[in-house]
Amino acid sequence: MTAADAAARLFRDTFGDEPQGVWSAPGRVNLIGEHTDYNGGLCLPIALPHRTYAALRRRDDRHLRIVSAQGDAVVELDLSDVGAGSPDGWAAYVAGVPWALERAGHPVGGFDVAIDGRVPLGAGLSSSAALECAVAAALSDVFGLGLLDSASGRVALAAVCVEAENTVAQAPTGGMDQSASLLAEQGHALLLDCRDFSTEQVPFDLDQHGLALLVVDTRAVHELVDGQYAERRDSCEQAARELGVNTLRDVDADGLDTALGQLSSDLLRKRTKHVVTEIARVEEAREALRGEDFDRLGALFLASHDSMRDDFEISVEELDTAVTSATEAGALGARMTGGGFGGSAIALVRRDDAATVQAAVEKAFADKGFRSPECFVVSAAGPAGRDL
Ligand code: GLA
Repeated sequence: MTAADAAARLFRDTFGDEPQGVWSAPGRVNLIGEHTDYNGGLCLPIALPHRTYAALRRRDDRHLRIVSAQGDAVVELDLSDVGAGSPDGWAAYVAGVPWALERAGHPVGGFDVAIDGRVPLGAGLSSSAALECAVAAALSDVFGLGLLDSASGRVALAAVCVEAENTVAQAPTGGMDQSASLLAEQGHALLLDCRDFSTEQVPFDLDQHGLALLVVDTRAVHELVDGQYAERRDSCEQAARELGVNTLRDVDADGLDTALGQLSSDLLRKRTKHVVTEIARVEEAREALRGEDFDRLGALFLASHDSMRDDFEISVEELDTAVTSATEAGALGARMTGGGFGGSAIALVRRDDAATVQAAVEKAFADKGFRSPECFVVSAAGPAGRDL
């Protein structure tokens, strides 16, 4: 049975009715450009083949009934009771979407939905964005909003999902994950300019070049992570204020040293250096992909990881181990991906070396007494849409 069929069956078994359809949206890995999105910068994610499925039927009232293959009880609430910080838990990522759609002026109402999430949870692969975007895609169709039909509609839908995540789920994330889930095309990386959310599709077909992208989910669980993301964002915003610019995107790489000299602390200098150099690396990565220069792409991965480890300070030992062991075993480059403090790393490898690199990473983890990582090869998949 396909995952879409499984979601439809869960709907039927739970609500005793047929769903109007099944929609799905992918998780993502970011190739490069980390913690740049909320700085108005550039990033370069791909959509994963792993998706979250939503079987949904609209209702005539404002009631929401939500069931998940990964949860136990049905969550029931009224759309009028959704707001900042409420509901809590994973239901916020579902209920926040109609709330944010209404705030943006779109007429929606209640619905029943059955969710089947096939994006690994807690792996830094944006299972939460996949959930929001699957629900958003479904609501756009069943309430006749037509937002899936154009790139501008999809950009608007991504903004709605970000608002749901920031306000209802209260996670102060940028827009990369939702944009990747709604806009990344199969066989392409999405160059996303977070200054205006304009996009460019950059061909990304590693298989054609005898290469592969290996994801290493470190399964590292770290305490006190929540505050760290917000703290990094605050530091960047403070640095921008001290420099008198809107966002750190406005700091030119050529003028970086001058800018660093104007900042009030070493901490802000390190954070700013990461963001400004990382944005420049995204531009270089685009050129490397366009020129099919994968050695250069690998070198950029490594430089990005060093910057995240030393200047932005968001890596952990498991991620560093994944990067070092993959590189020593022959990867062209590797880096942590996503928010940091756990989650996943990616390694750019020759296709024939993938198994060797994976074995080397697993051995390095075992030698250090870490939980064994989950490794898998991914290719660039397609965006959110209707399955059934
Ligand atoms: C998380 C956030 C994104 C982005 C990345 C870091 O995935 O959800 O908005 O900031 O971290 O690049």
